[in-house]
Amino acid sequence: MTRVIRGQTLSFAADGKAVHESRGAVAVGDDGTILWAGPQSLLPQGFAQAEVDDYGDKLVMPGFIDAHIHFPQYRMLAAPGKDLLDWLTRFTFPEESRYADAAYARAAAAIFLKRLFAHGTTSALAFCSVHKTCAEALFAAAEAHGMALVTGKTMMDRNAIPAVEDTPETGARETVELYEKWHGKGRLRYAVTPRFAITSSDAQLKVSGELLSSLPGALMQTHLSESPGEIAFVKELFPRAKDYTDVYDHYGLLSDRSLFAHGIHLSDRECARLSESGSTVVHCPTSNTFLGSGLMSMRWLREQDRPVHLGVATDVGGGTSYSMLATLGETYKVQMLTGYKPTAHELFRMATRGNAGRLKIDHETGALEHGKFADIVVLDPEATPVLASRHELSSSLEDVLFSLMILGGDRAVTATYVKGRKVHERA
Ligand code: GUN
Ligand code: ZN
Repeated sequence: MTRVIRGQTLSFAADGKAVHESRGAVAVGDDGTILWAGPQSLLPQGFAQAEVDDYGDKLVMPGFIDAHIHFPQYRMLAAPGKDLLDWLTRFTFPEESRYADAAYARAAAAIFLKRLFAHGTTSALAFCSVHKTCAEALFAAAEAHGMALVTGKTMMDRNAIPAVEDTPETGARETVELYEKWHGKGRLRYAVTPRFAITSSDAQLKVSGELLSSLPGALMQTHLSESPGEIAFVKELFPRAKDYTDVYDHYGLLSDRSLFAHGIHLSDRECARLSESGSTVVHCPTSNTFLGSGLMSMRWLREQDRPVHLGVATDVGGGTSYSMLATLGETYKVQMLTGYKPTAHELFRMATRGNAGRLKIDHETGALEHGKFADIVVLDPEATPVLASRHELSSSLEDVLFSLMILGGDRAVTATYVKGRKVHERA
């Protein structure tokens, strides 16, 4: 049955311009794709008999896309580490060791996806634990929802604890097995996932580069230049590398399918190589302030002669919120501290069409356009008393988006649709 979703529609076009209808409609077909989007007054007669979900003045937008999140950290937000390395050793590795248990991983995957939907997130590039069981569970759960999800088994063969370590050989074998089983199934994609240079030996980084170039369509995700302690350790482990970025570059891990979380302390040379290779740096502001890692400067990364592609993400559980709205609010604050004042329009675009492009899923999601899947979030600009009061003062769409990202969170999410099916509705 065709369904028409009515509301104040907002999406971003390929040229970056906002497409906004104060009385808009999105017609969704049986197959979960968008058949038509535009002003209600122009809705074609053919949809007159369709079921209607009418959201009045609420915002109907493409669902948020989280470009970096850790599934097996779903319940360990707010773990008070001294810094990144302390946080990883004391809290993260023990928690991730549980995901060797398939039943545990399956139950966690159901909760994790439910939580994403409750926060308006419809797609993600996610880390799993080192265990194949963990990736199996997340792929299966995402496939059942018809979701565009990119993930992979983490590879890490040193500097952790045995319960979360693999070897270059087992890591590669399981990566290929998972890729063959899941990549391209429904809307799923595989990401080759070496955790970071500290927990992967030279041999494992070499294998990671080989996997990236030999598995067609696969992405690569890792961490780069997040904390001072991490950077110093990388220097000790790879004394011959020019810098942290060069470690990955040496093994062929820089590419237009590569996403690097954080990138806070990058030199001009590193930015130039990331730019040249088409790589993406993913900004994770709530994690960076929580772990005391530093302030990532979008302006520095985008310097005109060597602009680096940027994404934005929660980095749960280092990040302190599942909400991409809250994440955009914190992006604003961190950028203000680095001397740059982003607009809400710019940040909402990054979290939807922008991230879709970085994850290479922009042909199927990230905008309210004919032929794309109906991955949609409905936001209420008056969801809380504070938002409602602020809304009385709003005089433009920019104002509405701005107050939503600064003051909104999961309470601002009225409903979420994945592939045209309602997966969350606020009670
Ligand atoms: N660097 C390596 N692993 C991690 C992780 O799980 N979270 C964060 N924030 N940084 C990392
Ligand atoms: Zn991370």
